[in-house]
Amino acid sequence: MKAATYHGIHDMRVETVPDPVLQQPDDILLRVTATAICGSDLHLYRGKVPGLNHGDILGHEFMGVVEDAGPAVTRVKRGDRVVIPFTISCGECFFCSKALFAACETTNPKTGVEKGRGAILNRKSLRSAAALFGYTDLYGGIPGGQAEFVRVPKANVGPLKIPEGLADEQVLFLSDILPTGYQAVLNAEVGPGSTVCIMGAGPVGLMAAACARFKGAERIFMIDHHAYRLAFAQATYGVIPINFDEVDDPAEAILEATAHRGVDAVIDAVGMEAKGSAIETTLATLKLEGASGKALRQAIAAVRRGGIVSVPGVYGGPLHGFLFGDAFDKGLTFRMGQTHAQRFMPELLAFIQEGRLKPDVIITHRLPLAEAAEGYKVFNKKEQDCRKVVLKP
Ligand SMILES: NC(=O)c1ccc[n+]([C@@H]2O[C@H](COP(=O)([O-])OP(=O)(O)OC[C@H]3O[C@@H](n4cnc5c(N)ncnc54)[C@H](O)[C@@H]3O)[C@@H](O)[C@H]2O)c1
Ligand SMILES: [Zn+2]
Ligand SMILES: [Zn+2]
Repeated sequence: MKAATYHGIHDMRVETVPDPVLQQPDDILLRVTATAICGSDLHLYRGKVPGLNHGDILGHEFMGVVEDAGPAVTRVKRGDRVVIPFTISCGECFFCSKALFAACETTNPKTGVEKGRGAILNRKSLRSAAALFGYTDLYGGIPGGQAEFVRVPKANVGPLKIPEGLADEQVLFLSDILPTGYQAVLNAEVGPGSTVCIMGAGPVGLMAAACARFKGAERIFMIDHHAYRLAFAQATYGVIPINFDEVDDPAEAILEATAHRGVDAVIDAVGMEAKGSAIETTLATLKLEGASGKALRQAIAAVRRGGIVSVPGVYGGPLHGFLFGDAFDKGLTFRMGQTHAQRFMPELLAFIQEGRLKPDVIITHRLPLAEAAEGYKVFNKKEQDCRKVVLKP
């Protein structure tokens, strides 16, 4: 089969690789009909995450048709159309039973207690979190879905059957970015009358804006420096755009617009590669610093006392410029982490069916899988006003 494989920084290739096969009784084989490139894939593409090997198949946002199913699979059958969550979860362990699917402690064998990975830096005998599709050996070394076929483990827990009448593009983002934006908004406790600031107008920020609107937020500020992304969010979700290439200190602008209190919640949909601090970017490139703290510092500065900072953006490694004293002084709550996708997929599917959420409006690029390398390049460089790339095998 053909698959998009990683061969080093900025080097993705579509190659012929062996077809996947069923390995466990509760596996399915999926024929992929649509798959997307995620901002998380860009961290891999730029070489920011350890544990990636040459030839690894990337991709964790995908859907398709069940081609074959192991004998223990009861939830779906051959021919069913399904969306797959990016988190692989057993549905039975301590964490899955609390609906904390991204913390599933049974699906990531490569980094178990005996390997001492812990929470990566704080090397204790902590159990590992869930395996993810196409996301390095740290997350289980499971081949991803930017491919013609993919093996899907734990098929009685992950796959969500799609009812007739919905096109692939309408439901594809149930795999990751829609639940991620939704979890970020729930974590931020956004409700009627809330004021919220979303850092980053990428796909995750846009899904967060859609969900914040849906939940009744009164004012949504959005910070980025890609004018075309901000303009789309303003037109589509009614956000108040702040372009950090023009406004030197977006957090200060938000304080001025909120009677010098700040917003109820800030959602950091940027993560560890935040732009704006030349020193941190250099230190992070030299691997002396794990991440750029620019977005997080702005988040801490823009939120009101007693407010919430919700972080769907991915972070790794240490961060020295983290203003914990400011956070203490303001009495802040932080919520973050990988999305417990399985928890939110059914209700989000219902909202899509009812026409209340339309995640597909953010798609700008539709390419054949064979052009995956071009898709990565365009999305990475934000060329051609790219918001989101969908690949079709
Ligand atoms: N928690 C999860 O489960 C989960 C799921 C999906 C994606 N993510 C993460 O969410 C983040 C965003 O993903 P995406 O697909 O939207 O990626 P993206 O790269 O397309 O978007 C990021 C946006 O942030 C903007 N940005 C950069 N520096 C900024 C700053 N200092 N202030 C404000 N905006 C800034 C960029 O211009 C860009 O538009 C990534 O870190 C990704 O890994 C997390
Ligand atoms: Zn993702
Ligand atoms: Zn589990």
